[in-house]
Amino acid sequence: MKAQVGIIGAGPAGLLLAHLLQRAGIECVVLEAQTRQYIEERVRAGVLEQGTVDLLNELGLGERMMRQGLMHYGVELRFGGRGHRIDFADLTGGKGVMIYAQHEVIKDLVAARVNAGGQIVFEARKVGVERLASEKPLIRFERDGAAKEIECDFIAGCDGFHGICREAIPAGVLTTYERNYPFGWLGILAEAPPASHELIYANHERGFALMSMRSPKISRLYLQCKPEEDLDGWPDERIWDELQLRFAALDGFSLTRGPVIQKGVTGMRSFVVEPMQHGRMFLAGDSAHIVPPTGAKGLNLAVADVRVLAAGLQEFYGSGKREMLERYSEICLRRVWKVQRFSWWMTSLLHRFESDGEFDRRRQMAELDYVTSSRAGMTTLAENYVGLPME
Ligand code: APR
Ligand code: PHB
Repeated sequence: MKAQVGIIGAGPAGLLLAHLLQRAGIECVVLEAQTRQYIEERVRAGVLEQGTVDLLNELGLGERMMRQGLMHYGVELRFGGRGHRIDFADLTGGKGVMIYAQHEVIKDLVAARVNAGGQIVFEARKVGVERLASEKPLIRFERDGAAKEIECDFIAGCDGFHGICREAIPAGVLTTYERNYPFGWLGILAEAPPASHELIYANHERGFALMSMRSPKISRLYLQCKPEEDLDGWPDERIWDELQLRFAALDGFSLTRGPVIQKGVTGMRSFVVEPMQHGRMFLAGDSAHIVPPTGAKGLNLAVADVRVLAAGLQEFYGSGKREMLERYSEICLRRVWKVQRFSWWMTSLLHRFESDGEFDRRRQMAELDYVTSSRAGMTTLAENYVGLPME
């Protein structure tokens, strides 16, 4: 088999890249290790930046999102028993975020690609990449027990944090920058109407909590826990009681409870590799970087990477120029580091750190007070949350 671009991984990065390339008349194949059903049902994040929303609409992929998603123009930060709204629309000139689950985005992207006759090879096994530094890199894989190969001009490593692409880069090429946090998030999906119209990020003595949603009937809630928290110790009642304590407000706020339909623990980590390229293979999305979920940036950063990659490939196939492809890593990393900073900052601002003394605790409260009372403070949160402009 041959393809101009071989894309490994059908997450947001790989699928969106395939659409951008297809629109530019560049042919590509997408290889995915899992089944279609698996990737369409995997529960993950759910906040799309304004720029991501606009792009999906521009590509004609936003129809279901506009119908079923919930556009939000603010979030609440809650601490000391009081809520403080950050008004995105006012602070950013009308921008907001869309609450729409990542697996719904995946469904829309897969359906559109299948309808357009584009290829996605599901259940690709033993995927490997070779000859990365040559003009014709090669992808090998197995499908239904048969060995296959694809000769490409370029490979896009969109296979997530645990993928094979980053690992295939020879030792010594990449530098890793990493930070692990001493906590995780216990998340639930519940058949319960959200207790507030907008997301609530709470900093409480007992730890961080977040109230999000998937629809007017489904809540998505998280609470700070130990990194390796054992779910057996968390029957539903205990989760609801703990959430209620952390969201408690002076005006008598009460969470709406309901059946828990999904439960899990997520680790928290910041991770970047530099550069995001080796020879003719480009890393995009989680294969190159991970952010803690506090800023809701993972998916949006994957989208930003593939916009740059698609533009570089378009320039190459259009005019033979390689300037943008050569600057891919540099362009992406400027945004990646700003988003890393924001995600780290939101995490530091809102979580309880066991190692913190009284001084740090008071400093954290003062920062929350500043961020929610100064227009400059609120603007810095708002403009990052709705998404910085694309370079
Ligand atoms: N071969 C083929 N596919 C693979 C392989 C492999 N060896 N390894 C992993 N994959 C697939 C995974 O099954 C997954 O579907 O690659 C895809 C990677 O998708 P994501 O992990 O969603 O990564 P990305 O597209 O970069 O999107 C980042 O996803 O998890 C969220 O928080 C993350 O929101 C962020 C976004
Ligand atoms: C979610 O709805 O899953 C969600 C929302 C905001 C975050 C993280 C996750 O910061």
